[in-house]
Amino acid sequence: MTSKDLEPANPREPEESGRGWPSWDLTDRQLCDLELLLNGGFSPLSGFLTEVDYEPVLTDMRLADGSLWPIPVTLDVTEKFGEGVSVGDSIALRDPEGVMLAALHIEDMWHPDRKREAEAVFGTTNLEHPGVEFLLNGSNPVYLGGRVEGVQLPVHYDFPMLRLTPAELRDEFTRRGWTKIVAFQTRNPMHRAHVELTLRAAKGDEANLLIHPVVGMTKPGDVDHYTRVRAYQHVLKRYPEGTAMLSLLPLAMRMGGPREAVWHAIIRKNYGVTHFIVGRDHAGPGSDSSGKPFYGPYDAQVLLKEHQDEIGVEMVPFRMMVYVPEHDRFEPVDEIPEETKTLSISGTELRDRLADGREIPEWFTYPEVVDELRRTHPPRHKQGFTVFFTGLSGSGKSTIANVLLVKLLEMGGRPVTLLDGDIVRKNLSSELGFSKEHRDINIMRIGYVASEITKNGGIALCAPIAPYDEVRRQVRETIQPLGGFILVHVDAPISVCEQRDRKGLYAKARAGIIKEFTGISDPYEEPEDAEVVLDTTQLTPEQAAQEILLYLEREGYVGVETSS
Ligand code: PPS
Repeated sequence: MTSKDLEPANPREPEESGRGWPSWDLTDRQLCDLELLLNGGFSPLSGFLTEVDYEPVLTDMRLADGSLWPIPVTLDVTEKFGEGVSVGDSIALRDPEGVMLAALHIEDMWHPDRKREAEAVFGTTNLEHPGVEFLLNGSNPVYLGGRVEGVQLPVHYDFPMLRLTPAELRDEFTRRGWTKIVAFQTRNPMHRAHVELTLRAAKGDEANLLIHPVVGMTKPGDVDHYTRVRAYQHVLKRYPEGTAMLSLLPLAMRMGGPREAVWHAIIRKNYGVTHFIVGRDHAGPGSDSSGKPFYGPYDAQVLLKEHQDEIGVEMVPFRMMVYVPEHDRFEPVDEIPEETKTLSISGTELRDRLADGREIPEWFTYPEVVDELRRTHPPRHKQGFTVFFTGLSGSGKSTIANVLLVKLLEMGGRPVTLLDGDIVRKNLSSELGFSKEHRDINIMRIGYVASEITKNGGIALCAPIAPYDEVRRQVRETIQPLGGFILVHVDAPISVCEQRDRKGLYAKARAGIIKEFTGISDPYEEPEDAEVVLDTTQLTPEQAAQEILLYLEREGYVGVETSS
């Protein structure tokens, strides 16, 4: 089946009828899935799975008609939306801007047992597995199944020339006269090991190479696709002229390891490739917190081997590639004598080197790739960060934050913004009171502003009371991927704060004039995850600010540049 099969004879038709239909705003994941349903990348699927197809996909990796299909592609909606529609209805599937992309003709609607799905598809219900976490905590409880009728493909403004549909890619292969094509799937930047591996694969099978990276959704925390695509464009020039090409795949990965490898091969078959590279831990999420890997390193190869003939794509298996300094090249670990001296740099080690601005050796990757990575992963002393103070009223947050502000301005280099509790409440949160709900909204707003500052390389100093642990953690989770997040607990006992009572608020709170006052008639949850704890009964504001500066220096956020 090709994209044409899913296109309506008259695309205006569903769009016009769709105006009166209930609308479902697609999630990021569903947008990716819909694109591959519409462009034929998910052939033989012609829509979101009905329960009749979903069940055998879970139990046997097959659709009801027996076709191989290892991953459920389902449309999950909220309980409320589900209550408003019935089997037999049509709904409009829309992108975040409200543009109708397709019609879904509902053939089935059910409440799946998502734990069972996790166990069947991922082999675990451990929430540390990103696919499981998404399924159990990030998806909706009602599944709608049925045929989709396309109106238009999702619009992408980034790298449009590199986004070939299956039909376009197959035509391109024909135009180039390529008959044997080996595809390389990746969600990471490519380094020398990957280039040598793909060159070996292509040479071994006398095939041309398709670099086919996923740019839909990958594992949370991965390098963003803009950076990766720029790096792939550099890497492409490292291949012999006319032997390799780059095209982007708008897939939402599930990190499902072996099942996902089979899925990837089916998808690549639809894109016209004949061979597919599967290396170590293909599409695996690594290990859980106890260090136990979710999948064996070569489980994906074993499963795909069983199904490659049926799919019609030949697997090109690879062991891990390691650098052999003596030969100045990468070689599969199983092809070298055990005592051979080898070198490798893990993903974590690479991230640490980027963060510290340390050298990344040329044997590992190309200078132009390092440049791209450094542009989006500057060393810590060039990254933005947030210092988030928490503590009782009168504990000294504002005073210390003000000293720190001045010290950081004195150092220069980055813009600094102070979001003090009182000041935020005068403007950003002027309509809010002090209920838990309002305090949480207030902290989320401060966190949002701080996250934007951090993302853009500035320094945000936040000094609210922030009495609740959960919302503090949410703010940390938003900011940490964008730069630094340093929680500072300004720890002064309530008795001391009350004694200071600089604003006279404690007296009013005791007299019941101010209600819900933190520490008196409202809770304060002491943080257990603070990077810095300051006992302000023992420290002057200058000393307290100094403690924070020392921490920032130790972690590399301020201070002398290391070699870069
Ligand atoms: S919160 O909980 O983080 O949203 O609070 P925050 O935005 O930091 O606002 C705290 C400042 O508001 C004054 N104030 C109160 N604080 C606590 N509880 C109640 N009920 C209250 N009413 C007014 C107080 O001056 C706080 O400022 P700081 O600088 O902390 O003393």
